[in-house]
Amino acid sequence: MLTREENELVCSTGPGTPMGDLFRRFWLPVALAEEIPGPDCDPVRVRVLSEDLILFRDTEGRPGLVDAYCPHRGAPLFFGRNEEAGLRCVYHGWKFDVSGACIDLPNAPEGETFKNKVTITAYPSVEKAGMIWAYMGPKDKQPPLPGFDWLDMPKSNTYVKKFRLECNYLQAMEGDYDASHATFLHSTLGQGQANNPAMSASGGRIVLSDKMARYVSIEDTLSGILMVSANRWPDGRVQYGAAPWMMPIFCTAGIAGPGVYSSNMRIPIDDHALMFYRFRWSYEPLPAKELSSYESGEYIYPKLMPGTFIPVDNKSTDYNIDRVAQRNYSYTGIKTFPLQDIAMMEDQRGPLMDRTREHLASSDEAIIRVRRRLIKEARALAEGKEPEAPWHPEAFTYHSAGIALPGDTPVEEAVKRVRALATDKSKTAALAPS
Ligand code: FES
Ligand SMILES: [Fe+2]
Repeated sequence: MLTREENELVCSTGPGTPMGDLFRRFWLPVALAEEIPGPDCDPVRVRVLSEDLILFRDTEGRPGLVDAYCPHRGAPLFFGRNEEAGLRCVYHGWKFDVSGACIDLPNAPEGETFKNKVTITAYPSVEKAGMIWAYMGPKDKQPPLPGFDWLDMPKSNTYVKKFRLECNYLQAMEGDYDASHATFLHSTLGQGQANNPAMSASGGRIVLSDKMARYVSIEDTLSGILMVSANRWPDGRVQYGAAPWMMPIFCTAGIAGPGVYSSNMRIPIDDHALMFYRFRWSYEPLPAKELSSYESGEYIYPKLMPGTFIPVDNKSTDYNIDRVAQRNYSYTGIKTFPLQDIAMMEDQRGPLMDRTREHLASSDEAIIRVRRRLIKEARALAEGKEPEAPWHPEAFTYHSAGIALPGDTPVEEAVKRVRALATDKSKTAALAPS
């Protein structure tokens, strides 16, 4: 449970809020690279951390992320002309480059000199791993990019799609550090199996029989928190899974095939909506079978309405719940994995959960730790203490990992082994479902 003040602090990421300031110390994905496919392409609207922005790519192919409104008299730059190394406002022709400098001010005689005094808010942005990343904080606090192993990988080794959720980032993110939910939410009746036959390392189904899957170790790291969960299988073995969380929203939990890792990134659009970048990567090219399940399976990624990032099955259709399937086969009756989660997340007493009314149990320990860490770092920053994590790119190299061990393996030994796997750069099966 949080106090009203803590809940507000941890959920609000708009400009000038303590959590908003903390988020603005990190590089964050703000769009898919394919949304701005080439030089001088159409500009697109982007809303991030409650700020309305326009993203474009200049003649050189450089991404630019600027205020959605022109500094002259506030006209919408979405309608701007993207031409010759800058975006030109169509109201009176003022033109801005990707750095935010005004490079042409053609409607006034003093324009040649006055333009040097005019700038538009512009955030540094780069293209990496199929996404456009931006740094939205103070200029003198701009850190290096985080050192994710996948950031500079060839295209064949990564895959990303995004979709919009109508809720606060935190209640969505909390689903990733909730080891016990999968046994219920993502299961099928009777067999205790997750309902995707393609998931486990052996090619068989992941067995989810342990209703009390729990975290056996939760430790702070420089960049966030490293959790280890334990899930007892019917054959007596215990599956240990490492789930690192890195500030402020980088979650490594999630289902992936053998040797394939995941990163779930939930970027606040504002306090009542988020964009979910669901990312898959491997140290080797992603197998064709894996790719086809992303493209056509509708299992890992929900089907989207054409031309939008909105899932076809959503809150307005009750996620197309099939009550017959729910009675006879599926625990939820909701078809796809992400939709099962989304149905739980988008309406936790509404899109912005009131955490003064919850009743947490010991199974919620990891969730508590993540919240506490965010609150602590945001409060420290409000008091003038800068976060350390952004300045340590090497602290972002964790990924999820899983290992099944005999039931009598001492927990400390198991934790040590799976922790080591969480930074192992070889092809390792990431088994842990989320
Ligand atoms: S409002 Fe943009 S140039 Fe005048
Ligand atoms: Fe889940």
